[in-house]
Amino acid sequence: MTKKQTIESTIQADTWNGNNVVSVSQFTESAIDALFELTDRLKAMGRSQLRQWNPLSGYVLSNLFFEASTRSRISFASAFQYLGGSVDNTVGVVFSSISKGESLSDTIRVVQGYVDVIVLRHFTVGSARIAADNSTTPIINAGDGIGEHPTQALLDLYTIYNETKRLSDLTIAVVGDLQHGRTVHSLVHLMRLYTNIHIVAIAPNDLQLPADSVHALQGSGIRVTQTDDFKVGIATADVIYMTRLQRERFQSESDYERFEKLYILNRALIESVCKPDVVIMHPLPRTNEIHPDVDDLNQAAYFRQTDNGLYVRMALFLLVLLSPSELRNHLNTV
Ligand code: NCD
Repeated sequence: MTKKQTIESTIQADTWNGNNVVSVSQFTESAIDALFELTDRLKAMGRSQLRQWNPLSGYVLSNLFFEASTRSRISFASAFQYLGGSVDNTVGVVFSSISKGESLSDTIRVVQGYVDVIVLRHFTVGSARIAADNSTTPIINAGDGIGEHPTQALLDLYTIYNETKRLSDLTIAVVGDLQHGRTVHSLVHLMRLYTNIHIVAIAPNDLQLPADSVHALQGSGIRVTQTDDFKVGIATADVIYMTRLQRERFQSESDYERFEKLYILNRALIESVCKPDVVIMHPLPRTNEIHPDVDDLNQAAYFRQTDNGLYVRMALFLLVLLSPSELRNHLNTV
C-alpha cells in the first residue's frame, strides 16, 4: 500500500461496484487500497455498531457451496448478515439440483434471478468464470477446484499488511501442497502488484508450484526460489504461509501418505531457525502441519487471519453491491 488513496477517490473510480470477483488478476493496487481502508473502518466500528448500521438491509445473498467448507461459508454469511442482509445457504451437491443432473450454468441462470449476489464454491477449475458468464448478478469465487480463491488472498494480504505494516520488501515462504492449493495460487499472484517480493516455494518436487505460475511470477519481477528443504526455506522468511496437503485432490490414498507429515512447524523449530518477528499464517483448516504448541506464540497469526476474513468480506460486499453514492451516504451516517 505505497500510494494510499482515500476510500472516497476510489469509490468514485467505481472499481468494484457491480463486478464479479473471479480471479486475483482483476485487482489493481488502488482497488485493494480502497478495500483495505474500508476494512479498517469496519473493524474499528466493531460488531455492536455494525449491528445497528444495516447498509445491506433488504439484500439477499445466495451462498452456493458445492465443496466442503466451514470458515469461508460462515464468514461470507456472517459478513452479509452483520451488514443487515439475508443469506440463503445451499450446501453440497446432494441437496442441490446438480444432483438431478442440472448444469452449473442453468443453476446460476435461475439463482441470479432470486438474489443480489452469489458466492460460489465449486470443485471445477473455471466454474466461477462460467457462473459469471451466465449471470447479471455479481459472482464471488469462493474457490474453484485447484484454481483460485481470490477473497482468501485478499484477507491473507490484509493480514500480511496488518502484521508486517508493509506489502513490499517481503520474503514469503509458501509451504505444503503448492500444486493443488488454490489459496497459494491466488496469494502469490496477488503479490505481483508489489515490489521486491521473494517467494520461497517449499514443497516436494511433485507438489511444487505449477510451472506456468512460476514463469508468470518471474515475468512480473518476483524472485522465486523452489526448494524441498523446509529448515533452509523458512529461515529467511518474513511470512511463513503453511498449507495442508489437499487430500481430496490426490489420485490415491497411498499418494497422499507419501507426503503426509513431511513439513511440521513447531515452537522449537521457530525459535531455533526463524526470524524473531516472523509471521505465521495458514488459510486453515490445518491437519498436522502446524503443531498446537505454536498457537500461543505472538508470531502465530492464523486466528487473527480468520478474524480479518469477516471484515474483508464485509468491505467486499459493500463495494460490490452499493453504488458509490449509496456507499458514501451510508458511511456518512456512522
Ligand atoms: C482453503 C480452501 O478451501 O482452499 N480453506 C479456506 O477457504 N480457508 C484451504 C484448504 O482447504 O486447505
